Amino acid sequence: MLITESVSNIAFGGHGVVRHEGKVVFVPFVLPGEKVEFEITQSKKSHAFGRALRILNAHPDRITPKCEYYGRCGGCQLQHASYDLQLKLKQQFIEEALTRIGKLQNILVSPIIGTKHQWAYRRRIKLHKQGDQLGFIGVDNSSFVPVTHCEIDSGQSLDLDPDIFVQAHPEQSEKLYGDLLNQIKQLGTPKILDLYCGMGILTARLAALGCEVTGIELNAKAIAWAQKNHAHPIRWVVADVAKVMAGYLKRDRPAVVLVNPPRTGLNPEVTNALVTYRPKHIFYTSCMPATLARDLKILVEAGYVIEQCQPYDLFPQTTHVETVVTLCLNSSKTS
Ligand SMILES: C[S@@+](CC[C@H](N)C(=O)[O-])C[C@H]1O[C@@H](n2cnc3c(N)ncnc32)[C@H](O)[C@@H]1O
Repeated sequence: MLITESVSNIAFGGHGVVRHEGKVVFVPFVLPGEKVEFEITQSKKSHAFGRALRILNAHPDRITPKCEYYGRCGGCQLQHASYDLQLKLKQQFIEEALTRIGKLQNILVSPIIGTKHQWAYRRRIKLHKQGDQLGFIGVDNSSFVPVTHCEIDSGQSLDLDPDIFVQAHPEQSEKLYGDLLNQIKQLGTPKILDLYCGMGILTARLAALGCEVTGIELNAKAIAWAQKNHAHPIRWVVADVAKVMAGYLKRDRPAVVLVNPPRTGLNPEVTNALVTYRPKHIFYTSCMPATLARDLKILVEAGYVIEQCQPYDLFPQTTHVETVVTLCLNSSKTS
């Protein structure tokens, strides 16, 4: 059955939100305000999924996707939007998560930092093999889409174990690290706990500023790489942050804690340890607005003030967005 409705907004993940007969239908590859003809592909109790068949009034920022695989391969979700609109949508994802999930009002989210390099920025892509073909898993999460090239892959070889995390966009991740370092420099040379430190790119630069740093990371290969490649004296710890961080907070009393968790965010042991030992400054780098908002709610309720919330676009053409939040303990609530 063909249905015609208007798209109210775009949800995180890139699906257009359409309301039809009291249900929300998620329709990918549409834009806010567009009137679309679509069919339902999957119906659940509370919501449904649909496929757009015709756009009846295109958004003025709708553009022709550059990649021939777009819409089939699951890698990109926003190639049909101008880059300006992509940035606006990402800004909204964060603002909405903070108000809806975090129940945080009056938080000023700084304008997202975009990039001129909107293509060929990825240092790494994950390909699958079927027979002698290489490809991606499709948008439906099951089909195999053979590809011969990828528009967002830089194609440069990266001499690093694939199990070790590396930020996607060299230019943008450099801006993010640089901004973080500048903020920390303002605090002198504080004692720092760098949680989820990966291969220690930032950790080493903090040590170079003269800070006493402990980096904690679960992946032993990442720490082995860090020990081999960084000369500064840093205490490297291979461990689950949730299991060991309370001990380090209690013994060392660092003034600054950096967290950069995976998409799942901070688990309750981590937020509990933070609100128990109350480091003066927390810098939270997040790749997932929903879990960031959930965790910020806990920290704000425990007396932290959000001083800055800065999004960065490290993943043009996709809905991913990176955010750095600067938190400081409210001095009137420290006792
Ligand atoms: C988003 S990456 C951040 C890496 C690093 N901060 C950087 O900028 O390159 C998250 C890191 O957390 C690590 N990780 C995931 N779960 C962990 C846990 N429970 N304890 C410690 N590290 C963990 C992952 O191995 C990964 O290196």
